[in-house]
Amino acid sequence: MNLTSSSMLSVDSISKAYKEKSESLNVLSKISFSLQASQFCALFGPSGAGKTTLLNIIGGLDVPDEGQVIFEGKRIDSLDERSKAKLRSSVIGIVFQNPNLVAHLTTLENVILPSLFEINESNNENSRKQRAISLLTRVGLESKMKTMPTKLSDGEKRRVSVARALLTEPKLILADEPTINLDSENRDAVLDLIRESTERGAVAIVATHDEDVSKLSDPILHIKFGKLSYAC
Ligand SMILES: Nc1ncnc2c1ncn2[C@@H]1O[C@H](COP(=O)(O)OP(=O)(O)OP(=O)(O)O)[C@@H](O)[C@H]1O
Ligand SMILES: [Mg+2]
Repeated sequence: MNLTSSSMLSVDSISKAYKEKSESLNVLSKISFSLQASQFCALFGPSGAGKTTLLNIIGGLDVPDEGQVIFEGKRIDSLDERSKAKLRSSVIGIVFQNPNLVAHLTTLENVILPSLFEINESNNENSRKQRAISLLTRVGLESKMKTMPTKLSDGEKRRVSVARALLTEPKLILADEPTINLDSENRDAVLDLIRESTERGAVAIVATHDEDVSKLSDPILHIKFGKLSYAC
């Protein structure tokens, strides 16, 4: 696959090994692919294949041993932590495999809070709140806005984490098993939101074991034994 200058996201020859004492586990081996605006890409692979590791590297939460990640023409894997955090609070939206909600905040506050330091005149707190309410309603949580995380089911927490990731209308969406624990109606609601984001020009990578996600996906990526294969 060519890494072209028109790509919105280029992942170039990424390798990652986890080293412990004398042992080394090679998880990703020279992974390369590129995606253009509006592409929705499913990422498949057996448990332990490296899907989360790859998403973490693209989102700047982990560093590769080799290779680079280029987003909108800028290398992002070598940015300092502050710059990476700024990207994650604005243009990159991450749905974590573990929702990680803040225990002392309500559902609505959990969705709004991560983006608060990005608020400016054109994107004020009130508009963020309205968008958070709209997203939470789309994922069926209109009656849970003031609920604390300990009183949410796992599927509800996951839906909150999807709303949180999409709040800033990110251009790059990295979603790690966003539909796990969800019934078909809520799964469709989550996938519709991600698909609508790509229709507005975002790039989305969705790590999943759900074969139905491949129906929305072009291309489809598979990771196995550290290598990536690619199907359209
Ligand atoms: N911090 C770490 N230290 C050591 N090994 C790790 C670490 N994180 C992940 N691994 C190992 O790297 C491999 C890939 O893990 P990863 O979480 O990326 O897999 P995955 O494809 O997301 O799996 P799943 O479908 O179960 O979520 C696994 O063998 C895992 O044990
Ligand atoms: Mg994973």
